[in-house]
Amino acid sequence: MILLDGKKISAEIKNEIKKDVDSYIKKGYRQPHLVAILVGNDPASTFYVKSKMKSCAQVGFKSTNLNFESNISEERLLEEIKKLNNDEKVDGFIVQLPLPEHINVNKVLAAIDPEKDIDGFHPFNLGRLILGMDTFVPATPLGILEMMKRYNIDTKGKDVVILGRSNIVGKPLAISLVQKQYPGNATVTIVHSKTENLNVKLRNADILVAAIGMPGFVKENMVKEDAVVIDVGINRVEDKTKKSGYRIVGDVDFENVASKCSFISPVPGGVGLMTVVSLLLNTLKAYKNRYGI
Ligand code: GUN
Repeated sequence: MILLDGKKISAEIKNEIKKDVDSYIKKGYRQPHLVAILVGNDPASTFYVKSKMKSCAQVGFKSTNLNFESNISEERLLEEIKKLNNDEKVDGFIVQLPLPEHINVNKVLAAIDPEKDIDGFHPFNLGRLILGMDTFVPATPLGILEMMKRYNIDTKGKDVVILGRSNIVGKPLAISLVQKQYPGNATVTIVHSKTENLNVKLRNADILVAAIGMPGFVKENMVKEDAVVIDVGINRVEDKTKKSGYRIVGDVDFENVASKCSFISPVPGGVGLMTVVSLLLNTLKAYKNRYGI
């Protein structure tokens, strides 16, 4: 079993980004600038935004966090997005999800300038993804693809089963992995809460991606011998031995599944770190596009 070490490869990628940024600064360009909009104070969202800001600093990006009260009106949020769209000094921005219920998430995402849409959630960019055109691939799928590349995981002709049909992970990853490219050329199945004979389908997976947000859901009997298992889950479970009172676990019962796998990504230390680094890659891409460099 080989561990898909997100800590190691995300650090490698950050070094590569930093070198790139340093070379642009030397040539007289300004720093790449990422802005994150956070509505409300959900602890998980606050943590994610903080770690995105911290990673920006590590690679020499400027970052700004715009934090709004959870009762901000949809109209006001759309105005803020318009300002960022028009701000020459902003290369890319994200609206951290989920948003409060009174805000129409699709309307908000569609208001983002596709050229600054570093999350790749705008319908225009998702359309380009389906068509196999150059685009901002959403950060978690992009991180998984990069992880596959760096470990030379063979995807051609393989049965990939993705557990979870979210717009952020399951659907864009499925689209990417059927494209005529590497990683891709796979036979992809998305399974979800209404899927019949779930275990049979999961056991058929050469590559299993778990993205449903249920701690330890994937058990040993659901995984084929020598499968590649990629765990996207970031779940908090109570742990009184920790100062915080909780610990983070994935969607896979790692302890019992790991020995069966050819490759497996741990939680923490796996896909989560790749997601953050992919957002940096998308920001750098937006910055380069802006200057034609
Ligand atoms: N919420 C959970 N994952 C993500 C992500 O990748 N981007 C944003 N904006 N919100 C999220």
